[in-house]
Amino acid sequence: MAEPTGRRPSAGDIAPVTPRGFATRAIRAAHRIPIVDQPPTSVPIYQSVTFTTADAAELGAVTTRQIAGYSYGRLDNPTVAAFAAAVAELEGAEAAFAFATGMGAIHGALGTLLSSGDRIVATQASYGTTRAQLLNVFGRLGVRVDFVDVTDLAAVEAALALAPTRVLYAETISNPTIVVADHAALAGLAHRFGATYVVDNTFASPYLCRPLELGADLVCESATKYLSGHSDVMAGVVVGSASLVGRVRDFEVDTGASLDPHAAFLAMRGLSTLALRMERHSATAATLSAWLEAQPGVTRVWHPALASHPQHATAARQLARGGGMLAFELAGGRAAGEAFIDSLSIPARTASLGSVFTIVTHPPSTTHRQLDDAALTAAGITPGLLRCSVGLEDVDDLIADFARALAAAGSVTTPATSSPALGEPARAEPTPV
Ligand SMILES: Cc1ncc(COP(=O)(O)O)c(C=O)c1O
Repeated sequence: MAEPTGRRPSAGDIAPVTPRGFATRAIRAAHRIPIVDQPPTSVPIYQSVTFTTADAAELGAVTTRQIAGYSYGRLDNPTVAAFAAAVAELEGAEAAFAFATGMGAIHGALGTLLSSGDRIVATQASYGTTRAQLLNVFGRLGVRVDFVDVTDLAAVEAALALAPTRVLYAETISNPTIVVADHAALAGLAHRFGATYVVDNTFASPYLCRPLELGADLVCESATKYLSGHSDVMAGVVVGSASLVGRVRDFEVDTGASLDPHAAFLAMRGLSTLALRMERHSATAATLSAWLEAQPGVTRVWHPALASHPQHATAARQLARGGGMLAFELAGGRAAGEAFIDSLSIPARTASLGSVFTIVTHPPSTTHRQLDDAALTAAGITPGLLRCSVGLEDVDDLIADFARALAAAGSVTTPATSSPALGEPARAEPTPV
């Protein structure tokens, strides 16, 4: 164990015991911290739950945040704090706090703001587990939850006018229907009615959109997805003003969804390549969407870069690019969708999104399994909807594979050889959102 340094001499100060027992010496030998006076190029993994202090008074001061420092892993950790600080910088935020998962981050943000008797107005187009958390956790604890179509600003205004509202909640690009929320308009409405505007920015990442700059008060993100980017780590983060994030931190200390330092290290490594990945995801998704839209067996495609996207104008204003997420509907409905997924050979047959590899899922049976038919319809999720998280593979390979799968699913396709070059859409010129 490293000897505390700078310890104040006290009246009872006596020479320390020289350990002789094997167990004591082994513990001390295995805990000698190397002194490194050269800065490493990567943030070290501080795989330690506990941090020593000079004396009992300093430990108390650190633990109660009277002075900066570390005491216990649930409260803070240098690697985790470095990850949070990096995300805060990229989101243009004063502060950030990291969580073990994206759901932990959403729970941290909403749990900080909502009390029994409060009301939240939330987007009806959201990740299924978010909806489940709102109803099953906050609803059970006495929070009134109302859902609204956030693309209908008159409906949002009417919902906010109906009763006092603590939180207005939306996703920048919704899971799975790719609805784009107009943050400037929604933040303006929320503030006019005294509500806090909270945004899930997972599908966009700060490379495509920084909701705080558009008026949002708190932003939650599943760092499991694009921020980390490789489907090998779970993490979440909440960013916002120092005062709000300080309250989120206090809530997390009491509820305990702390991020592990090794996970923080992996997530931070992902941040370094976020720009490159988002550019490539966006270009490939725009090309694939435009190609899909031209296929006779495909009834509908949603991607923010498509001129046909209902919120294309908002996306063009608000997003740097269209992002890597798209949704589409096959003429043959659910059966055709399942046959399509089963016939693909390049995408992984798995859940999640925002990874190096392409993932095609059927939301009604996976990410939104908690929703009954009425809730699925209200959320715009039709039985045959497919969601695609476009990876970093070569676009021509993906188009060839999708063409094969469309044929197998019984849909008529145009030849895969007509695939455009990367970033050059086949049809309906996508603007660079
Ligand atoms: C939009 C969105 N928000 C939050 C989450 C939850 O993230 P996590 O799985 O890291 O808890 C997900 C997960 O898919 C998501 O899609």
